[in-house]
Amino acid sequence: MTENLVYLNGEYVPANEAKISIFDGAISLGMTVTESTRTFAHQPFRLRDHLDRLFLSLKAARFDAGMTVEEMEQLTLEVWEKNRPNYDAGTDAWIVHNITPGQWVPSSGQKPPGSKPTVMIITLPLDLSYWADFYRVGCHAVTPFSRIQPAQSLDARIKNRSRFLYTLAESEVKLVDPMAQSLLLDTDGFLSENKGGNFFLVTNNRIRTPSTINCLNGISRQTIFLLAEKLNIPVEECQLLPYDVITADEAFFTSTPYCIMPATKFNGTIIGDGQVGPITKKLLAAWSHLVGIDILEQAQASRK
Ligand SMILES: Cc1ncc(COP(=O)(O)O)c(C=O)c1O
Repeated sequence: MTENLVYLNGEYVPANEAKISIFDGAISLGMTVTESTRTFAHQPFRLRDHLDRLFLSLKAARFDAGMTVEEMEQLTLEVWEKNRPNYDAGTDAWIVHNITPGQWVPSSGQKPPGSKPTVMIITLPLDLSYWADFYRVGCHAVTPFSRIQPAQSLDARIKNRSRFLYTLAESEVKLVDPMAQSLLLDTDGFLSENKGGNFFLVTNNRIRTPSTINCLNGISRQTIFLLAEKLNIPVEECQLLPYDVITADEAFFTSTPYCIMPATKFNGTIIGDGQVGPITKKLLAAWSHLVGIDILEQAQASRK
C-alpha cells in the first residue's frame, strides 16, 4: 500500500498534508471550477470529455489552469497511475479536478501580481453502496423549495463547487423523506436537475430531458444520448413540468458515480407502475456492456 498522493500546484503531496491558502479564491470567493471523472475496471471513462467540459467552464469563468487540455490529460493519467496500486481489482476511483483562480486579495478584490491558479487533482475510492438499492427499487424524487439559479445569474453549464444551493435543496427534500433525492425546479417552475445529476423521463417509449438552459451538460447525460441512439429510442431535450413526471412511465437520474439511478416515486406519487421500467433497465444493461462492468453488481458488491 502506497500513500494516496494528490497533485497540488506542480507537486505530489500526501492527501492529508495537501493545504491551500486561506486567501485562495476557492475560500474568499467560492470560485472553484471542478470535474469528477470515474474509472471502470481502473480505466478512466470519457476523461477527455470531462476535461473538455472543464476547459469550457474555465473559459466561461474567465480564469485558466495554466496548462493546455492535453497537458491536463497527461497529468491526470499520471496522478491515477501513481495511486492505482492502492486500488483492488473490484474498486474503482473518482478522479477529481478542482481549479481556482489562486490567491485573491479580499480587500481590493484583485489578484496579487504573479498570482497563479491553484490546480488540484485528487483520486478517491468510489463507494457505490449508497445507490445499490436504487437500481432495484428506484428512489423517491422530491422537489425542494429552493430553486436553481437562472442562467442569467450563474450558468449551470459551468461545473463549479459553489454547492450551497444544492446542499440546501438536498437537505430540504431529506426533511420529507430521509432517502429522497432532490429534483430542483428553475424559477419558472420547469424541471432542472439533481444536486449532482441530470434527470430523464420515459413516456410512450420516448425519452425526454431538460435542455441545458437550466442544467449541467452531464457527461452521463451525453452517454444516455449515445446509448439511446444505439437502441433506437428517441430522445428529446425540452421544457418539462412536474405534471410530466407524475404522468411518465419511467424516470431516472444520471451521474458519473452511479451512471443511472431509477426514480419510482415523485413527491409521494408512484411513477408508472412503481417498478424500475424496461427502458431504464435496457439503458443500464447497454451502459454495463459499454464499459465491460456489471454496474448493478458492482454497486451490490460495494455494500459487503
Ligand atoms: C449539478 C450537477 N448536475 C449534473 C451532474 C451530472 O454530471 P455528470 O454526468 O458529468 O457527472 C453533476 C455532476 O456532478 C452535477 O454536479
